[in-house]
Amino acid sequence: MYLSAATWQEIEARIKSGKKSIIIPIGSHEQHGPTGLIGTDAMCPQIILDEAQKQADILIGPNFGVGQAQHHMAFAGSMTLRPSTMIATIVDWTNSLAHHGFTHIYWLNGHGGNCATINAAFCETYHQYSMKGESAPFKHLLMNWWELPGITKFCMDLFPVGHGSHATASEVALTYWRFKERESLNQLKLEPKIAPSGSIRDALDYRKQFPDGRIGSDPTTATIELGGKIVEASVKALLESFKEFEKA
Ligand code: NI
Repeated sequence: MYLSAATWQEIEARIKSGKKSIIIPIGSHEQHGPTGLIGTDAMCPQIILDEAQKQADILIGPNFGVGQAQHHMAFAGSMTLRPSTMIATIVDWTNSLAHHGFTHIYWLNGHGGNCATINAAFCETYHQYSMKGESAPFKHLLMNWWELPGITKFCMDLFPVGHGSHATASEVALTYWRFKERESLNQLKLEPKIAPSGSIRDALDYRKQFPDGRIGSDPTTATIELGGKIVEASVKALLESFKEFEKA
């Protein structure tokens, strides 16, 4: 079930019946190299959730699709929030949901660069309760989709060489599974075949170190078929992980 496709009466009844949890897909719009799509990090959590809601009664919130991507701003199409904007927005989303009685907010994340800021935002939401000596009426969980139980190993077994850390073969495969007409991008010849690895600073430094945008990856091994396998495994892992969180 999608919050955006529900009526207020349906949500009110759902909360009154004790279903007080929601999953927010969160990611980024940033370049993903010559063979990857700009919305990859926003779409990967959404793709997993779109399949998961066919199998279980979960409530999916709006896609928080622009995050921390200052280091990608030397590549056309990338968008970024400042950390302060993102923290303020997560706080406002949280307070809105808590206002209606949601108690469990599960953030399924598609972009590693968001983690520090999301965790800072969680601290900001809990701060007011801690300072009053009260328990916060909600709990957050941040879960990177590739860190769902068993999924890192699953992806590394599918792509033992050149998985990489940005524009990874697995995330690119997920998007090809969803946007099948984009799979032909994997025919491009990339030079070098496996991109260099290194640390990240500002946007111009990033483009100098990683000229085509990839880090450590050869995403030309991504296919629709392998993407489908990752989606299937991730849906199963997500539903188990979410069920555990709801019990907490
Ligand atoms: Ni990514």
